[in-house]
Amino acid sequence: MIFIITGVSGSGKSTIGSLLSKKTNLPFFDADDFHPKANVEKMTQGIPLDDHDRMPWLNTLSDKIAEWENSGGAILACSALKESYRQILQSIPGIVWVHLKGEKPLLEERLQNRKNHYMNPGLLTSQLETWEDPDYGFHLDVSNTPEELVNEILNHMESLNAPSHFGIIGMGVMGKSLALNMAEKGVPVAVYNRYVSGKEEKIASGFAEANSGFPLLKGFDDINDFLSNLESPRKILLMIPAGTAIDTQIEQLLPLLNQGDILIDGGNSFFEDSNRRSEYLEKKGINFIPMGVSGGEEGARKGPSIMPGGEIKSYELISPYLKKIAAKDKLGKACLTYVGPQGSGHFIKMVHNSIEYGEMQAIAETVHLMRYGLKLNPLEIAKVLREWQHEGLKSYLLEITADILEVKENNGFLVDMILDEAAQKGTGGWSLKTAIQNHVPYSALSEAVTARQLSAKKKERSELAKLYNHRFRAFADDKVLILEHLKNAYALTRIINHENGFNLMKEVSDNFQWKLDFSEIARIWTNGCIIRSTLMEELVQLFQNTDQILQDKNIIHRAKEWKSDLTYIVGLGLQHDFALPVMSAATNYLLGKIIDDSSANIIQAQRDYFGAHTYIRKDDPDKKPRHTDWITYKK
Ligand code: 6PG
Repeated sequence: MIFIITGVSGSGKSTIGSLLSKKTNLPFFDADDFHPKANVEKMTQGIPLDDHDRMPWLNTLSDKIAEWENSGGAILACSALKESYRQILQSIPGIVWVHLKGEKPLLEERLQNRKNHYMNPGLLTSQLETWEDPDYGFHLDVSNTPEELVNEILNHMESLNAPSHFGIIGMGVMGKSLALNMAEKGVPVAVYNRYVSGKEEKIASGFAEANSGFPLLKGFDDINDFLSNLESPRKILLMIPAGTAIDTQIEQLLPLLNQGDILIDGGNSFFEDSNRRSEYLEKKGINFIPMGVSGGEEGARKGPSIMPGGEIKSYELISPYLKKIAAKDKLGKACLTYVGPQGSGHFIKMVHNSIEYGEMQAIAETVHLMRYGLKLNPLEIAKVLREWQHEGLKSYLLEITADILEVKENNGFLVDMILDEAAQKGTGGWSLKTAIQNHVPYSALSEAVTARQLSAKKKERSELAKLYNHRFRAFADDKVLILEHLKNAYALTRIINHENGFNLMKEVSDNFQWKLDFSEIARIWTNGCIIRSTLMEELVQLFQNTDQILQDKNIIHRAKEWKSDLTYIVGLGLQHDFALPVMSAATNYLLGKIIDDSSANIIQAQRDYFGAHTYIRKDDPDKKPRHTDWITYKK
C-alpha cells in the first residue's frame, strides 16, 4: 500500500509521514530527497521551481512508487501542489492520498520555527497560490496534533475492510457526488446502481474503480452484495428519480431488509407520497426518512443543505454522518436540521424549489428588461448584477446568472443560443397545487410556474409573435435612474417570493401540526442550497420575532420605500411589451395584501345576486349571512 501525504510547506508532511511509518512499519520517504541538485539550489536561494524543473523529479518519484509497491508499500511525503503533478505520481492504482490543509498564519509560524531546512518561508505564498484542491483522498486539518491526524488516517484504513456505514442507491450526478462527499469526509460508503443489460452495466463498480483515490468508496452491481456490505441497522440513501421509481425500489428492497433498517429518500419526492410511504414502511418495521437535499451537483459534492423528516429517533442515527457532509452556515454549524414528522422534509424542499422558480423568473425578467429595454449587452448586465451583490442583494442565483451572461461563444454569447423553453420536474407545480388546496395566496410563485409552461409552447409563441408583430421597445428614460428603480423592484419581488413560500409552509405546518421552525429552516438555507442569499440570512433573525415577513418593521420600511420602484418598473415594462409575470404578480399581491377596503365586496354582491350565496355586512357584529333580493332594487 502506498500513502502519499501532500500539502504545502509547513503542513507537517514529514512529521505525519514519519509517525505513520512508525505505526505501520512501512518505510517513509521524503520527496524532497529525490530532487535533482539544481532544484535544491534554486529552492535554497528562494527561487520558486517551475514545471520544467519539476518534471524529472516527478518522473523519478513515479518510478519509485511502482518499485515501493512491489516491495510491500511505502509512505511518501510530497507537496504535489497541482493535479497534473499528482497524475504523474499515480503510477499504480489504489494509492491512499492524504491531503494536509491549514490556514496560512499557522503554516507561516511553523516554517519560522524550522531549523536546518532549505525551504525559504517566503515561498509559502507562491505554494498556496499554486495549490489545486484535489477532490479525492482524505483531507485533514493540520491544526490537530500529529498523533490525532495519524489516528484519523489509521481509523480510515481500518474501516476499509469493515462494513460500510452508509449505502447509496442510484448513481446519477447527485448520488455520485454525495458518495464522494461522504468518502472524502471519512464515511465508508457502498454504492449500488441497478443493472440494465446493454444500458446500465457496471455503473456502481465502474464508478468506484474510476475513483480509486477514495478508498472508503465501494461499488456493487449486485443488490445482495451491496446489502451484505452494510453495517446494521442499514442506512440506505435512495438517490433515484421521484415518482413510481421510488415505490418500485422500495418493493424490491423490502424482502431483503431487516426490521430497524433505515431507508432515506433523498430525491425531490412529492411530500404527500412521502407521507403515504412513511405510514406504509412504518407498518413493515422500516424506518423511513424522506429528506430534501439542495445544492445541485456541486452542493452535493462539497456540502449541500439537508432537510430530513421522518421519525426523530431514526434521524438521530443518521445525523452524525449527514453533519459531516452538509454545508456550514456562517457560524460553522451544519446546514442540516430535523425538519419534522413524515414528509415534512420533502415538503420544505418542494417550497424551497418553488421559491427557486420565483427567484429564477424574477432574475430572468430583470435581465430581459436590462437587455432589451435598456439595451445593455450581457457583459454590462453581468457587471450590474455583480455590483448588486455588494449592495445588499447577494445571492447564489444572481451570482450564477452573472457567470452565465459572461460566457462567450464564437462572436456571440452562449446564452443567446439557448432555446427559450423552460423545463420543470414538478416541484413548482406541486407547490402551487398545495397552495390552492390550503387556500394560501401564492400568486408570485404560481406565476413562475405558469411562465415556464408558457415558455414551453415555443412553436405557438413563434407563430403568434409574427401575427402580433411583437417587439420589445427600448426605454427612453435615464438608464442610471431606471437601473436604480429596477434594483429596488427586484429586491422587493424577492421579498414577496419568500413571503409566499414561507406563508405556505406556515399554513401546511399548522394543518399537519408539524411545528416547523422557520428560523431554523432559513438557517439551513443560508448555505449549500440554491436559494442561499443575504435575504435568507436576514430571515433567520426575522423569524425569531414573527412568522409574518411583511409584519417585520425593517421589511415594512423597505417595502414602503421600494413599492413605487416596483410599480414603476412593472408599468414601464408592460407599456414596452415586456411580459413580467412574477414582478407584476408580486406587485398585485403586495397591493392586494396591504389594502383594507378591497374590491371583494363587489364579488360578494355579484355572488349573492346570481346565486343567493349570501354576504356579511360590515356593520353587523354577529356576521350573519344575508341575502338581498337585488331584482327589487332594479329600476
Ligand atoms: C436544488 C435544486 C434541484 C434541482 C431542481 C430542478 O435545490 O438543488 O432545486 O433539486 O435542480 O429539482 O428542478 P426543475 O427541473 O423543476 O427546474
